Amino acid sequence: MPPGAVARLRDDLVARRLAEGLPAAFTAGVTRFGRPPQAELDALTGAATDLEARLAAGAVGEADVPLLTRVLFFAGQADLLSAHGLPTPAYDVLGSFRDNLARPLGPRAAERPAAGGRRWPLLGRTIGFPIGVPACVLNGSEAWVRHNVANGWNVLTYKTVRGRAHPPNEQPNWTFAARQTASLAPGAAADVVSDPWDWVPPGSATVSSVNSFGVPSPDPGEWMADLSRAVAAVGDEQLLLVSVMGEDPDGTGRVDALAGDFARTARLAEEAGAPVVELNLSCPNTLDRSAGGVRPPLCLDADATVAVVAAVRRALDDRTGLVAKLAWLDEPALAGLVPRLAPLVDGIAGINTVQSRVRRSDGAATFPGRELAGLSGIAVRDPALDFTRRLVALREAGGVHFDVLAMGGVTDPGSFAALFALGADAVQSAAGAFADPFLARRCIAALGETLPRAVEAP
Ligand SMILES: Cc1cc2nc3c(=O)[nH]c(=O)nc-3n(C[C@H](O)[C@H](O)[C@H](O)COP(=O)(O)O)c2cc1C
Repeated sequence: MPPGAVARLRDDLVARRLAEGLPAAFTAGVTRFGRPPQAELDALTGAATDLEARLAAGAVGEADVPLLTRVLFFAGQADLLSAHGLPTPAYDVLGSFRDNLARPLGPRAAERPAAGGRRWPLLGRTIGFPIGVPACVLNGSEAWVRHNVANGWNVLTYKTVRGRAHPPNEQPNWTFAARQTASLAPGAAADVVSDPWDWVPPGSATVSSVNSFGVPSPDPGEWMADLSRAVAAVGDEQLLLVSVMGEDPDGTGRVDALAGDFARTARLAEEAGAPVVELNLSCPNTLDRSAGGVRPPLCLDADATVAVVAAVRRALDDRTGLVAKLAWLDEPALAGLVPRLAPLVDGIAGINTVQSRVRRSDGAATFPGRELAGLSGIAVRDPALDFTRRLVALREAGGVHFDVLAMGGVTDPGSFAALFALGADAVQSAAGAFADPFLARRCIAALGETLPRAVEAP
């Protein structure tokens, strides 16, 4: 935290006449998507009211930062925290998907963190320290890509886009899962309690979250123009991948129609300048228009997955890289699928969020109308380690090389290093990046000089 930051923030709040409205704005944010039990709400409002009094009296100090952060975040004033160099979760969960696309949240490092010019190989290029932000709303536009590059993230997967505009699911779309502070066992069914007012302080290494965005997408005209600008915005230490997803346009359930739409969308990404296309074969949040509810991830159906990947490979230029993103799969499913995918792809990414049953502490739905949502963060760390270990072993046994982009539960340098040590070529973080916008900087500071498998710069 920059010296004197709290005092400057306090003066700013008072000068903008925001301090006196904070308890009401905080309570409005906390109750936006549901009402906490009265005792909990009273305690939260009481704490915000005490804080307001201390702000007015000029009696706030570093000990108030955790409360100040929580209050400003739910009062919709997280930008002010960033402006004074204080960490905040890197996405405004109260704002809409659209609002957030144009507005990366969280502080930006004054100087881009880098590992002193060291390089690592990835997908036929060499890049800086191999940490990145995977396909998610933290990489949904050129503005986010620029923001992430400035904070030291080098492997940037532009959020999944579709071949036609698609609205987000009803809000809330993203909540902390504050009770989920340890990992599930690989393959364990997850029953998650998450309240929309749950809070995990920035920088926490035990963060978990659940999300249900439903893979929203601007229309191709809009995202292609934005993507071209994002491609131009990254330097030679970064790699930008673009995640795409096809749909079954007429709802007939025909795999060739789905594969055709994946291929068409991948071509649009290629046309916009994507050097690498990643196929989202693992989304846990796709709504089923005919049957209602949420569908299982596509990669659970090996034949459909291979048909989709083969169709995309045929449609793309040979120079465009292709990555298949999978969900956690059990032993027979992964061992059956990977040898069939390996000849078609340059890389395999995983894991996606784990599809989980999610409800509020009072038993009501956290995400209205959607019982299932995607769990990630520390809750999926062991599944990610298990998946990566088996994926690397299959690569070694199979004789066809592909790169591994590993993710799931990376929240600190140790969890980055654990996935890299298993043989991943790059490691990405979504929930960890949400909780700590400076996570890449911390990993580079801890490991930048010693991380193995570096190569000569070109
Ligand atoms: C809010 C949110 C949105 C996401 N959206 C996408 C997406 O559009 N496409 C995709 O392939 N994965 C998506 N993911 C999954 C992440 O890319 C990643 O695979 C997963 O979150 C596991 O990593 P983590 O534990 O670091 O969060 C999303 C994750 C989060 C938290």
